[in-house]
Amino acid sequence: MKAVLIPGDGIGKEIAESAVEVSSALGTDIEWQVYHAGREYYEESGKLLEDGLLEAIQQCKVALKGPTATPIGTGFRSINVQLRQQFSTYANLRPLCSWKGVETPYANVDLVVVRENSEDLYKGIEYMVDEDTACGVKLITRKASERIIRFAFDYAKKHNRHKVTCVHKANIMKMTDGLFLHVFEEVAKEYPDIEADDVIIDALCMKLVKEPTQFDVLVTENLYGDIISDLCAGLVGGLGFAPSANIGEDVSIYEAVHGSAPDIAGKNMANPSAILLALAMMLKDNEMEEKAERLEKAIATVVEEGQETTADIGGNGTLRSFTSAVIERLSNETD
Ligand code: NAI
Repeated sequence: MKAVLIPGDGIGKEIAESAVEVSSALGTDIEWQVYHAGREYYEESGKLLEDGLLEAIQQCKVALKGPTATPIGTGFRSINVQLRQQFSTYANLRPLCSWKGVETPYANVDLVVVRENSEDLYKGIEYMVDEDTACGVKLITRKASERIIRFAFDYAKKHNRHKVTCVHKANIMKMTDGLFLHVFEEVAKEYPDIEADDVIIDALCMKLVKEPTQFDVLVTENLYGDIISDLCAGLVGGLGFAPSANIGEDVSIYEAVHGSAPDIAGKNMANPSAILLALAMMLKDNEMEEKAERLEKAIATVVEEGQETTADIGGNGTLRSFTSAVIERLSNETD
C-alpha cells in the first residue's frame, strides 16, 4: 500500500526515520511517499506545504505525520488544523494506557479520548472588535456533535469498551455545550448495552488525577479534547506514549500527540514510541492487525526491560538505541 509520510519539524525527521525502519522490519509493503510541511520547510521554501502533498494524501487516503511547529499568537495557521479541515478528519482518537516499566502513580490506566476535530473554538473564527478587544466564536453543530458521539459509541462497541462519558461545561455554556450534551443523551439511547454518563470538564480533570481507572471512553469537543488528552498522556508517562488518529470518511492521518520538541531536536533523545504506536494504529485500520500487535508487543517489551528507553521516562537509551531494540525484538520473533 502507499502512504504519505510527513516528517515535519524538530524531532519529526528523527522519529519519522524510526517509523520507516520499523515498518520495513515488520515486513509491511508500505511505499512511503515523503512530503515536507511545517515551519522549517516554510523557512527554506516560503511554502508551508510541499506542492503535491494534499493530492498525495487524497490519493493514498492514509498519512503518517510528524509534528509541525506553529508560532504562538502571530504567523501561519496550524498545519494540523488545515489538514483536518481539508480532509474533514472529524474524529481524533487518542488511546492511552499504562506501560509496565514506566513509573506513574497508576498502573491500570486504559482510556480512549475521542475528540471532535472539526469545529468549536478551533474553527478559527476570530476577529478584533476594536484595537483592545478580540472575539473568538465557539461553533457547535448538531451534525458534527452527532457524528463524533456516534463514532465514540461505535468505537466502544467494536472494542468491547463498557462506558462512554461525555465531557462538557453545559452548566455555563448552555447553548453550545448544552447542545453537545443533549445530542449525547439522544444518541446514547441507541446503545443500551453501553453505559453512558457525563461529567463537567473541570470535575473530570480532578477525577482523572485522583482515580483515572473509573473512565473508559471519553467523548468531547475540540478544545477540551486537546487539553484532556495531554492530561491523560501525563497519567501514562508523558507525551512520548501518546499516539493519535485523525479519522474522516475518506482519509485518515496518524500522528504522535506531542509537538516538535525543539529543546531535544537533533539530539537523538526523542522517545519514538508515540509515532510507532501511531503507526500501529494505521496498520490496524489497514488490515495489518497482526503486524500492529507484534509492534505494540515489541515496544512494550523494550519499555519493560528498560535498557534502551529514553530519558523522558528515566532511561539511559537514545532514540536510535530504542528503535534498534524494537527492530531486534521484531527480528528475533520471526526467526
Ligand atoms: P512539545 O510536545 O513539542 O514538547 C513538550 C515537552 O515534551 C518538551 O519538553 C519536549 O522535549 C517533550 N517531548 C515531546 N515529545 C517528546 C518525545 N517524543 N520524546 C521525549 N520528549 C518529548 O510541545 P511544545 O513545546 O508546546 O510545542 C513545540 C512545537 O510543537 C510548537 O510549535 C507547537 O505548535 C508544535 N506542536 C505540534 C503538534 C503537532 O504537529 N501534532 C502538537 C503539539 C505541538
